Amino acid sequence: MLEKEIISLVEAQREQHSLAREFYTDPDIYERDIERIFLRSWLYAGHQSEIPEPGDWFLFDFAGESIIVARGLDGEIRAMLNVCRHRGSRICLERSGCSKRLICRYHGWTYDLDGKLAGASRMNEDFDKSAISLRRVHVELLDGLIFVNFAEQPAAFSAVRDGLADCLRPYDLANARVAHRQTYPIAANWKLAVENYCECYHCAPAHPEYSRGHSLAHHGVRVGELYEAVMARAGACGLSDRTVNHLFLDAPGFGADYGYDRYPLIRDHVTGSDDGRPVAPLLGSIRDYDGGATDLQVGPVTFGLMYCDHVVLYRFTPVTIDTAECDITWLVRGDAVDGRDYDRDRLTWLWDVTTHADKNIIERNQQGVNSRYYVPGPLSGMEDYAWSFMSWYLETMRSPLRAVA
Ligand code: FES
Ligand code: FE
Repeated sequence: MLEKEIISLVEAQREQHSLAREFYTDPDIYERDIERIFLRSWLYAGHQSEIPEPGDWFLFDFAGESIIVARGLDGEIRAMLNVCRHRGSRICLERSGCSKRLICRYHGWTYDLDGKLAGASRMNEDFDKSAISLRRVHVELLDGLIFVNFAEQPAAFSAVRDGLADCLRPYDLANARVAHRQTYPIAANWKLAVENYCECYHCAPAHPEYSRGHSLAHHGVRVGELYEAVMARAGACGLSDRTVNHLFLDAPGFGADYGYDRYPLIRDHVTGSDDGRPVAPLLGSIRDYDGGATDLQVGPVTFGLMYCDHVVLYRFTPVTIDTAECDITWLVRGDAVDGRDYDRDRLTWLWDVTTHADKNIIERNQQGVNSRYYVPGPLSGMEDYAWSFMSWYLETMRSPLRAVA
């Protein structure tokens, strides 16, 4: 599809309606998604506790790209392309590892953990290895959460850190640890997964387990007595009662979105679990359960659910035009021990069962959208945030590239 055809398609889009079929099926639009959004936005790669020792590394792959996220011998966390500077082979093949150097197994070129070429045997005499490094990717930390960005000059991450500092401090995520991490493959375009995450119109019919305890499944939860009661308790429990909303930003903040929005749990639930009772020790400096939960967002495709005793991080990435991945990380207190302080199955139950249900509805959505007879339909008021995502997406597709760089 030509650029002018894409722009016409954007201009033909009806307000508050789902997107045209081509946005989920056209290969040129998919390439534009990758180039304009994924190669320019801050993306969650992992938690620093996953690479605690010098030499530890893990891979973050999406849309045919692969990044090595490594802790150097100096303790610094860096990220670089998993593409050898000799003839382009993948270097690291396992999902994670620990080594003093990274060795390409094709011809044996060896790299330091900051990407510098350290050794290349039998090259010509005039070969200057000091001029060669793996391509670096920008890295920023948000309370121990590692974010990466491919752009040459990404939007400043300091705004995210500053904007969320007060809200995140009580959770002490820098000292949290990963209790479980799981990737869910989804046979659908990545946008259908993000749109689904951004609305709770489907929650009551699709998620009976979630709907038992979460007011978002029901309309009008950010007002009224229940909301006021949770906000009033937040301070006493050591939590912020602020709402932060810098979401789906245009240039110059593009791809560095951030939001923190606390809302009430219902039916005496104090956390996201099967019966609403605690599943892990209170995080950080939080003193008690306030009866609320937080929606967190950092960048356009990383979301979080913050409870008093655990945090669930969601990241959506494309694999191909019609397959995506939902990567979920469950964080608990750094000193919590599985089997003693929490039970991993109980901790992960709610968002595992909910994600399996989401995977099913998203995949059925793709199947329907693939139909030659699909036409975009009207959205409900409970899908306002999904529309925020869609309208930001459409603007991103239409604008000159420099406006979003
Ligand atoms: Fe890596 Fe040749 S491609 S050493
Ligand atoms: Fe859902």
